[in-house]
Amino acid sequence: MSNLFVERSLEEIRFWSRIMKEHALFLRLGFTVDQPKLVQEADHFYNVFENIEERAAAFTSDSDREQIARFNMEVYQATTHIWAFKRKVLGLILSCQIITNNYPLLVDHVSREAAYFMNRLEQLNKGILEPLPDAIINENVFFLRLMADHAKFIAHLLDPSERNLIADANDFSYQFDQLLFQAVDLESMRPESQTGPMLTRFIEENRPAVQSLRDFKQTARELIEECRLRSNIHPLLADHTFREANRFLELLDRFEASLTAGSNSLLK
Ligand SMILES: [Fe+2]
Ligand SMILES: [Fe+2]
Repeated sequence: MSNLFVERSLEEIRFWSRIMKEHALFLRLGFTVDQPKLVQEADHFYNVFENIEERAAAFTSDSDREQIARFNMEVYQATTHIWAFKRKVLGLILSCQIITNNYPLLVDHVSREAAYFMNRLEQLNKGILEPLPDAIINENVFFLRLMADHAKFIAHLLDPSERNLIADANDFSYQFDQLLFQAVDLESMRPESQTGPMLTRFIEENRPAVQSLRDFKQTARELIEECRLRSNIHPLLADHTFREANRFLELLDRFEASLTAGSNSLLK
């Protein structure tokens, strides 16, 4: 039990602290030369999360449970601050006080990811280590929306001359919007929609779509790295969204395993 707590905490922190660090970089790169104060703030968060990432790498699964619980709280605090920074930037954009090279939806998106990370850290410290059946639909709603957003970012950051790839990205956007609405429908049908077979089918339907989007992102990443793509996409942003799709796939496997374990325990 105590080891699982340490393992899950380190896994979440290692994944999401790198993501938070990269968000700080993307925000920084989006600010213009007349926004040095915002650049400085973004740099500060980059350093904060780089430090967290290094410390998380130094812990092991044998690390002390209490020490990890304190670390989770500290990371939670840092994430609250980057969340507030992202919301502040979004407010500045939406009130037309600044113009940045990041879309408002991207800034909102990265703030949602920060809020999710905060929530996970809170759950871990409360002892919720595995996804509850109740949370499976919510997690899918959250991640499907991220995937739908990613498809839109790719479509809008490609050069207009990349007609075929824009069409592909728009297809993914439509497909994930549909899956998202399906998940939202199931959400309002709770608790009746939470029966094992219904949820298992839901997961099985989402998985191949996420796999194809992940492959599409991988192709885009390779094309960018080889300088074969015309776009405004930073190579690290392509890799970043690829890793987030992989994370969703890992969670889908975990949800499916927990549903199978749940139905077995019901049979006993
Ligand atoms: Fe992200
Ligand atoms: Fe994302």
